[in-house]
Amino acid sequence: MNVIRFSDLCAKGQVAGKRVFIRADLNVPQDDAGNITEDTRVRASVPCIQMALDAGAAVMVTSHLGRPTEGELKTADSLTPVAKRMGELMGREISVVANWIDGVDVKPGQLVMLENCRVNKGEKKNNEALAKKMAALCDIFVHDAFGTAHRAEASTYGIAQFAPIACAGPLLAAEMDAITKALLAPKRPLVAIVAGSKVSTKLTILKSLADNVDQLIVGGGIANTFMLAAGLKIGKSLAEPDLLDQAKAVIEAMKARGAAVPIPTDVVTAKTFSADAVATVKAATNVADDDLILDIGPETAQALADQLKKAGTIVWNGPVGVFEFAAFENGTKVIAKAIAESSAFSIAGGGDTLAAIAKYGIEKQVGYISTGGGAFLEVLEGKTLPAFEILARRAQS
Ligand code: 3PG
Repeated sequence: MNVIRFSDLCAKGQVAGKRVFIRADLNVPQDDAGNITEDTRVRASVPCIQMALDAGAAVMVTSHLGRPTEGELKTADSLTPVAKRMGELMGREISVVANWIDGVDVKPGQLVMLENCRVNKGEKKNNEALAKKMAALCDIFVHDAFGTAHRAEASTYGIAQFAPIACAGPLLAAEMDAITKALLAPKRPLVAIVAGSKVSTKLTILKSLADNVDQLIVGGGIANTFMLAAGLKIGKSLAEPDLLDQAKAVIEAMKARGAAVPIPTDVVTAKTFSADAVATVKAATNVADDDLILDIGPETAQALADQLKKAGTIVWNGPVGVFEFAAFENGTKVIAKAIAESSAFSIAGGGDTLAAIAKYGIEKQVGYISTGGGAFLEVLEGKTLPAFEILARRAQS
């Protein structure tokens, strides 16, 4: 995708002395006391900020945090804990500026964090007047918030329309490059793993991937619906029988292209959904009426692992079983290990997937781990994200 890259502007010496406005995604989980419980997005946002400082810019960074009511800044919505964490990571104090829309005092070499941008009235609806005011604060707007790239808000889209220069920060650019490599120009075979509890929440993704991938591995409740569609019994497992036709359509679409949705040949079942439930491995054809399928069986896991090892590209979204319970983690563990051992370029995203990657310690062996939640899913749906659209347009103007 043709966008202006902030790293190129820095390399060409076009950033020194300039006012740089960075939109990051610092929307991190916090506990009730406001402590950050997972700081990946803060860490992932540091390189862009450091790049701007090293290039001699006056740096402003902002993000949303949660979904606050516009017009009110409550303590719980403040970016103060995020600024503290980022300050620790960068070895400097970062002050947080409230009410920043009408002007920000920042000099070259300095860094300030602009308070939660979603408390500004008009942010969500991409109010033009607000976006113009934000754009007037800077010489260069840097979009580095992949996690928010699917939103067209004043601080993500409007500002990119009106800022003198609008470009992609290193995180956004890395995400864009990984997505392009995995989905637009993949080394084949391209294998996608889409798992989760419901077909309905991922139907658009399944349909979109059915036109592109060579193998579409489904897992979790989604796999149960596909097993039903393949004529198998699933007992009292979670499934959406009203979506059988849609599941069949995906299977048919794949078949017509010579591709496949592998249906499990064995499963791990239990009578109750609990960590201490007795796990029973059985053939997929032997599921009893009172069984719950909580994982793929070892034979299926091995067959999928073999396919993953032969893949050219792997896209992973969702654990294939209830990996949080030891008795039902084998499928996800085997898949994770196979991805780690595969020479394929792999890209992974989504909360549960990231938790599985962390659990099995394969972070370094996954080609790219996305910081996006909803944004990553929209990419898999085949949508062009507003961030990419506007930055590509601004690269032409
Ligand atoms: C996320 O957590 O997925 C992003 O920060 C986007 O947040 P939002 O869904 O509130 O826009």
